[in-house]
Amino acid sequence: MNTLKLLPTLLSRTAQNTLPRAFTSSVENPLDESHKWPRKIFSGIQPTGSLHLGNYLGAVQKWAELQNSGEDVTYCIVDLHSITVPQDPEKLRNNIIQMTATMLACGIDPNKSTLFLQSTVKEHSELNWILGSLTTIARLRHLPQYKDKTQKMKEIPLGLFLYPVLQAADILLYKTTHVPVGEDQVQHIQLTQHLGSLFNNRFGTTFPDCHAIIDRKEAARIRSLRDPSKKMSKSDPEVKSCIYLTDEPDVIVEKIKKAVTDFTSEVTYDPENRLGVSNLVAIHSLVSNGKTPEEICKDVQGIDTGKYKMVVAEAVIEHLKPIRTKINEYLKNPSELVYILDDGREKARTIAEETMAEVKQKVGLGANMSEFAMLKKVSKGV
Ligand code: TYM
Repeated sequence: MNTLKLLPTLLSRTAQNTLPRAFTSSVENPLDESHKWPRKIFSGIQPTGSLHLGNYLGAVQKWAELQNSGEDVTYCIVDLHSITVPQDPEKLRNNIIQMTATMLACGIDPNKSTLFLQSTVKEHSELNWILGSLTTIARLRHLPQYKDKTQKMKEIPLGLFLYPVLQAADILLYKTTHVPVGEDQVQHIQLTQHLGSLFNNRFGTTFPDCHAIIDRKEAARIRSLRDPSKKMSKSDPEVKSCIYLTDEPDVIVEKIKKAVTDFTSEVTYDPENRLGVSNLVAIHSLVSNGKTPEEICKDVQGIDTGKYKMVVAEAVIEHLKPIRTKINEYLKNPSELVYILDDGREKARTIAEETMAEVKQKVGLGANMSEFAMLKKVSKGV
């Protein structure tokens, strides 16, 4: 007979009240579909040093907006994800500091958001292991990002394979309901939904269903300036494909001048058929205080794409100027940045510990074993 099934009726009131919160829900709980989860936003970014326009417009700009609209937001610098490819330790630490300064410069405010470093909250790795035991090699092998990243590799690190499971752990640990990301992360969010419901079905309702937030279509996939059929990416060997937030104005001008467009000189927004020029219009729109791509095209009617590139470059430079200044200001005081991450860790850890205690208890792992022993005694009437 399953002792835990009997617990709610057998426990004395006093015994129930002394239990840790995580221990009071039965392993056999049916799925509670009616559970209303509080809205909770979580997202993550790899400490790659400098942010590029794709990261900024596709994700971080939105993160700041969500924070400023009073949402419950947690943002994580995912250093454990970054070691799935070889990293120089000194450079990695510098990149973490640089990314923290960049987050703040982009408007992430530690008084309104929780900003922390993934490796400082050990529960991410613990939940990764548990979720990894629930999923299959076949399920992970088909994820497109894994296929892309490993295409040219002879020896594939296991961490790269498990990468999306760790991402699911990041999200589920905070009982996240919404994840603001770019389009390239959608399959990872779908895997998270799958793992969350697998866990819920097997062990009882624990995690909410989570959803990607991709509400600005033109920001979802900022394209490479040199090959607009691909996304803008730091790993692109073509240096001029990618604009970094820290690029000097003349570098930005040079990169946008060299952006690949087509043979039509008119500026239109037609992301299906005119990838290159539409990418420039999308970028222009996103750095122009809410102007839609259509409004942008109206504004620049009559100028050809060559001249238009200079207009875009100017708008990008103007938008990034205060951010660059702030990054440099924040970098003058690295210990303040470390303090902010430490403070964020404390806030994140409180939630992560609570979730992991609940998860371990439900899975039957070694959390709260003494309470379990006591309950066994109670149920047997000892
Ligand atoms: P990362 O570090 O590659 O990118 C961070 C965010 O930037 C978005 N992004 C883009 N958006 C539009 N156009 C582009 N060209 C572009 N390039 C990047 C990404 O979609 C992402 O939102 N696996 C994640 C990090 C991660 C995470 C998480 C995200 C780890 N745990 C939990 C959300 C929730 C990644 O490598 O992102």
